[in-house]
Amino acid sequence: MSERPLFLMTDPGCFDVSYQINPWMKPDAWRADPQARLAAAKHASAELKRALVGLGAEVETVGAVLGLPDLVFPANAAIVLDGRALLARFRHPERQGEEAIFREVFTRLKRRGLIHDLVDFPEGVFQEGAGDAIWDAERRLFWAGYGPRSSRASLAVIEKAFGHPVVGIELASERYYHLDTCFCPLAGGKLLYYPAAFTPAALAAIHARVPEALRIEASDAEAEAFCVNAVNLDSRIVMARAPQSLKRKLAAHGYSVTEVDLAPFILSGGAAYCMTLRLDRESRPSRAIIAAE
Ligand code: ARG
Repeated sequence: MSERPLFLMTDPGCFDVSYQINPWMKPDAWRADPQARLAAAKHASAELKRALVGLGAEVETVGAVLGLPDLVFPANAAIVLDGRALLARFRHPERQGEEAIFREVFTRLKRRGLIHDLVDFPEGVFQEGAGDAIWDAERRLFWAGYGPRSSRASLAVIEKAFGHPVVGIELASERYYHLDTCFCPLAGGKLLYYPAAFTPAALAAIHARVPEALRIEASDAEAEAFCVNAVNLDSRIVMARAPQSLKRKLAAHGYSVTEVDLAPFILSGGAAYCMTLRLDRESRPSRAIIAAE
């Protein structure tokens, strides 16, 4: 496997906002000027790719498919760890057509040796990929969101598929419908998160595992700017245009922010993290962590 972080992204050529399956989606705003919006989306996606490559990552690109606009959010395609891909089952019919496309994509990645193994959720269990199951490299566990999109029954399936603990955290609102909209574990064990998105039990589960000194709370404005939906590579965090307050907060914790204008995708309720899917994560502790132990 490659030494550089490897991400999947999707060609935005068929992206639009034509239906509404989350409260951020604005089909009217898209329809007001589809050509300009699409041009802006293509530019934004290219800029995100450029930012990742600039930080040393490689990007594999999935081809666009007419009629599947949300294919641009591959974080929802699967949970990937140690070369195994557990393929998503989408809750909404609008996105279910993506399942066959991503199955083909992962089959091709397997042929190339970039993925070893494909696994499925049982029929009737919804789970929307890495958008709702986030690997915490420091704690060596998955945080799994459930409620609006993924079923609670997905937690046990994830645990069995990967053999690592899964901490289920229930999402309290339709606005923060995927875990990645409100929860972002960072290198070094810190956590950027938006507390209001969680039920009291979920917050207790988070607080039990992440001590206060490691918790970085996003404000309402920071979460609404989709800045928690971020890609972290060591001390760098790639995110949508961020309020100064957040950049300052993260800098005080030793992280620097790379901003990309992702406005066209925020019209669909997504940003940097969900426009990507990390393919090369390994669960074994990194050399740095072993040395520290
Ligand atoms: N319009 C997409 C949906 O509602 C956006 C998905 C964003 N993905 C994410 N992991 N947050 O499904």
